[in-house]
Amino acid sequence: MTRRTTTVAIVGAGPAGLVLAHALHRAGITVTVHERLSRAAVESAARAGVLEHRVVEYLRALGLTDRLTAEGERHGRCEITCLGENVLVDYGALSGGIRHWVYPQQLLLRDLIAAYLADGGSIAFERPVESVTVGADGRPGLNTADGPLTAEYVIGCDGAHSVVAAAFPDGADGPGRRYPYDWLTVLARISRPVEQIRYAVHADGFAGMMPRTADVGRFYLEVPAGEDPAGWGERRIRAELERRLELDGEDPALGALLETGMLRMRGKVARRMRAGRLLLAGDAAHTVTPSGAKGLNSAVADAADLAAALIAELRDGDGTGLDGTGLDGYERRRLDAAWRTQEFSEQLLDLLHLPAGLPPGQREFALRLRLERIRRIAAPGPEGAAFALAYAGAGELRLPAMWPSAQGGAVASGATGR
Ligand code: PHB
Repeated sequence: MTRRTTTVAIVGAGPAGLVLAHALHRAGITVTVHERLSRAAVESAARAGVLEHRVVEYLRALGLTDRLTAEGERHGRCEITCLGENVLVDYGALSGGIRHWVYPQQLLLRDLIAAYLADGGSIAFERPVESVTVGADGRPGLNTADGPLTAEYVIGCDGAHSVVAAAFPDGADGPGRRYPYDWLTVLARISRPVEQIRYAVHADGFAGMMPRTADVGRFYLEVPAGEDPAGWGERRIRAELERRLELDGEDPALGALLETGMLRMRGKVARRMRAGRLLLAGDAAHTVTPSGAKGLNSAVADAADLAAALIAELRDGDGTGLDGTGLDGYERRRLDAAWRTQEFSEQLLDLLHLPAGLPPGQREFALRLRLERIRRIAAPGPEGAAFALAYAGAGELRLPAMWPSAQGGAVASGATGR
C-alpha cells in the first residue's frame, strides 16, 4: 500500500482549523482536515456568538462574510448594572468606531464548511485521530480509521483535550486557574432581540444576557464552583435571571428555555505551541473563560498568524521571517497574545464577580467599588478607550503576504458594513 501524504494535516474542524484550512488551501497548499464529530454536530453546537472587529475584517478579506454581514448585527454598546445603576458602555464610540459583530458560532462554522467544500477542499468528518506520530526524520503523521498519513506539518486545532498537544515529547501543558464559581448557561427563546450585552453585577452573583439571533438569547448565571445542575430547575433559573438582570417590560421576555448547561470556569495557557513540526492553535493551546468572549476570537487570530507563517515557510522556506513574522516566532507571538487575552478576561471576571466567601455585610462595599470601576470604563479617557479597544478587538490580523487585499497593508476597517 502506498503511504498517504499531505503537506499540512489539520486536526479539528472548529474555528481555528477551518480558518487555517481556508487560507492554506487558497494559497495552493495541500491540506487535509480530520474531525472527530459529524458535520451535523459541528454545525449545531450553540456556543460563542460575539466576533471581534479584527476577526470579521480578516474573514471579509478571505471572502467569507457574505452571510455574516447579511444576517449578523453590529454591536458597539453594552450595559453593566450594579447597585441599581445601569451604566451604558458605548465602547464603539470610546474606541473610535470599533465594534463587534454578533453571529452565532454554529452559523459561522456552517458558512466556513460550505465555502471550503465549494472551493474544492474536503473534510474527513467522524474520523477521530487515533494517534500522532513523529518519524525518525522528524516528519509527523497521524493515524485514523482511513489509515496512516504523513505530513510536513500536523496542526492541533482539536480543542482542550488535543491529541496533537499530547504528542509533544515534553508535553505542552502549562499553568491554569480554576475559578471559585461556574456559569450556568441558558439558550432561550426571547420575545425580541437582545439589543446589547447586559452584565449584572449582583450581591447574589453575576448574571448576563447576550444577543444571538432575533428570537434567541444566551444567558449566564454565576453559581458556586462544582454546582450540580440538577439543583437548577426551570423555575429557579427563570426567577434568578429575572431578579439579577432586573428584567422588566422594556426587556425581551423570556420564552422557552431551549438548552441549559454548566460551564466550568477555568483558564489555561500551554507552555509550548510548537514541537518541531507539530503546532497548536486555539483551545488546544489555551482555554479562556467566556468572560469577554475571547475564545473563538483568539482561536481565529492563532489561525491567521499560523496561516501567514506557514505559507511563507512552505513557499519561500522563510521560517525566520526577515521581519520576525515567520514560523519560528509563532509560538512566542501567540503565547504572548494568549496571556494578554487571559489577563483581559480575568480583569472582567474580577469586575463581574464578588470575591469568594465575602460575608454578606461586606458585599455592598465590594459592589460599590465595582460600580466605581464600571463608571470609569464607561467614561471617555484612557481607561475607557483601553477597555473598548481590547473588548471590541481593534487592530488587524495578519494576512498572508500574497493576499490581494494585503497589498498596501491595511484591510478595510471600521467604516464598512453594518
Ligand atoms: C456571549 O455572547 O456569550 C458573551 C459575550 C460577552 C461576554 C461573555 C459572553 O463577556
